Amino acid sequence: MEIKTCGVVGVGTMGSGIAQVAASTGGLNVIMNDIADEFVDRGFSAITKNLDRLVFKEKLTVAQRDEILGRIKKSTNIEDMRDADFVVEAATEKLDFKLNIFKDLDKVCKPGVILATNTSSLSITKIATATKRPELVIGMHFFNPAPIMKLVEIVNGMATSRETAETTCKLAEQFGKTPVMANDSPGFISNRILMPMINEAVYALYEGVGTAEAIDNVMKLGMNHPMGPLELADLIGLDVCLDIMQVLYGGFNDSKYRPCPLLKRYVDAGYLGRKTGKGFYDYKER
Ligand code: CAA
Repeated sequence: MEIKTCGVVGVGTMGSGIAQVAASTGGLNVIMNDIADEFVDRGFSAITKNLDRLVFKEKLTVAQRDEILGRIKKSTNIEDMRDADFVVEAATEKLDFKLNIFKDLDKVCKPGVILATNTSSLSITKIATATKRPELVIGMHFFNPAPIMKLVEIVNGMATSRETAETTCKLAEQFGKTPVMANDSPGFISNRILMPMINEAVYALYEGVGTAEAIDNVMKLGMNHPMGPLELADLIGLDVCLDIMQVLYGGFNDSKYRPCPLLKRYVDAGYLGRKTGKGFYDYKER
């Protein structure tokens, strides 16, 4: 099936970034779907702001910006996905939520349409069980900020077919990304490695080994990471980091993945990072 229209379900930070990439580099029509107008509007203005910045930097003309925005259709009705040739789900990282969305997508989408999920750690195999097309369900894991980061981790569930994986890899390339293949396992490759590092950095802070600045500077200046682990946790969201640690802890039944109590305390306090204006750093004054 030729892919002309890409559906994106859930247009928060990741979903709107994916919609932007699909409509710009990917050159596709995009149906941006969320449960309420306010979320869809917020996602659309994030894209507009990003494209405006590119116009300001003279990397895009005003006409190109308008053409890209013109390819994006807003939607609050999941039935609009009947027009999609490929769907990426990027909604809240809660399994029950995703199972419901995939059940609905399976009902409304045309036969043969691939249903991809941007989940950062939930089981693709499990999500696929909500549909009658498990061979067409796959992980398509983008990284924040999605318009900038080169990687897309393609995750095969137990039932994912080779054709589905190949089509998804080709689409990732059409989006200007580099696909890397992984198999379904808690945290896949990316978060199996990244999250324990972030969690360990939180332990170092908790135990007073160093300040947040010291811990981040060690990793930035000593290991050449673009951001320190605590700064990165604030970008990702501390609630997301905690959820992923819980998936690793529960998935492997191994105490080495136990989430740091300080991470739990920050989440309980509502200090979730950049999105709430406070995490390991304060963003209100920045
Ligand atoms: N959206 C769009 N563009 C953005 C952006 C955003 N949110 N943030 C920065 N950019 C653009 C800037 O406009 C700039 O573009 P130009 O080169 O055209 O000028 C470019 O990115 C570089 O930005 P800056 O100069 O402001 O800052 P920087 O050089 O420090 O780069 C960064 C910013 C790209 C975020 C960099 O710090 C970085 O790579 N950090 C690590 C990010 C990372 O590890 N992400 C993965 C998180 S894990 C995840 O997402 C998956 C998961 O499952 C948890």
